Amino acid sequence: MKIIITGATGFIGRNLAERLHEDGMKVVATGRSLTTGSELQKKGMTFIQADIKDLDQLNTAFSPADCVVHCAGKSGDWGKFNEFYETNVIGTNNVIKACKKNHIEKIIFISSPSIYFTGKDRYNILESDPIPERQFYYGKTKLMAEKSLLDRAEKGPAAIILRPRAVYGRYDNTIVPRILQLSKKKNIPLINNGNAMVDITYVGNLTGAVKNCLFAPDKAWNEVYNISNNDPVSVREWFGLILKIFNRPFYPKNIPEPVAIAMAGMMEVFSRLPFGNKKPSMTRFSVGYMARSMTMCIEKAAQGLNYSPRISNRQGFEKYKLWLETTRGHKSSYS
Ligand SMILES: NC(=O)c1ccc[n+]([C@@H]2O[C@H](COP(=O)([O-])OP(=O)(O)OC[C@H]3O[C@@H](n4cnc5c(N)ncnc54)[C@H](OP(=O)(O)O)[C@@H]3O)[C@@H](O)[C@H]2O)c1
Repeated sequence: MKIIITGATGFIGRNLAERLHEDGMKVVATGRSLTTGSELQKKGMTFIQADIKDLDQLNTAFSPADCVVHCAGKSGDWGKFNEFYETNVIGTNNVIKACKKNHIEKIIFISSPSIYFTGKDRYNILESDPIPERQFYYGKTKLMAEKSLLDRAEKGPAAIILRPRAVYGRYDNTIVPRILQLSKKKNIPLINNGNAMVDITYVGNLTGAVKNCLFAPDKAWNEVYNISNNDPVSVREWFGLILKIFNRPFYPKNIPEPVAIAMAGMMEVFSRLPFGNKKPSMTRFSVGYMARSMTMCIEKAAQGLNYSPRISNRQGFEKYKLWLETTRGHKSSYS
């Protein structure tokens, strides 16, 4: 099988590129970072630099293949709408066009469950549950990208959309490193005592899901699937587990949600001032996302993709720690 991966220089795409390459598939990795690209090349993969906002670059980077896994994207809770739109919507439309031009009939898209966020607790969310109209820029543009892919389902390429929540594992530069950084402070702030229930996803479970997609029957295509470890935890348990595995002390400090919202609101205002111009360390969205329970049902992926998360929450963190310890550069930056 020949698989083209966008965003192969990022956390999820790189994990996927390495896994498919190790499994003997021909991987064409694309992204913008030449540094990471050359590391992928050293491992035996083809790397082609391409910006997904530029259709000509994508047309050149793509070639006939069995499938494109589209991982490139702009995520986050802060930034201008246009920045999200250009990468997540125009970029995805370009991926679709480049697939058509290169006779690629299948796209797997890494979307996000943040589109489910309503600001209220939600449990066991199904893919078919109503999606709130009001969305933050990230969720809004991921949803628009999903629609572009599914609207074109009739004319091809066929698409599978995966919505994995809170992915962690090797090359992760956000979630776990942030928690480890926080642990250097005396107290770790937990909104509403960290009682919100959340799903988390070990990256190896996600790459396993993508592999299953590659071999999925026709009826599984043009569908959306939730992906997680299928073991929801409270934020408090989640942070506690990470810090226990990394042998760090855990002194949580409760921050009531209204207080956190007020602080985040002020930080946002400050960031918008001409001299502020810096990403706030928390936003009203990030507060809500950590304060509210959001768990998903993965039964559809189990049925349609034969997905079964093999690595538990704990095993995933243990694997990640082992990887950090054997990767000297990463170890020094987080310890
Ligand atoms: N991590 C999670 O917990 C999570 C959860 C749900 C969904 N997702 C989704 O999964 C995807 C990958 O996330 P990630 O965590 O791996 O993010 P990441 O580490 O930030 O990687 C993003 C990737 O997108 C590439 N990219 C961004 N803009 C691009 C552009 N204009 N042209 C070409 N490449 C571009 C980056 O390339 P360069 O680095 O070379 O610039 C990088 O390879 C994203 O679409 C995200 O929405 C992530």
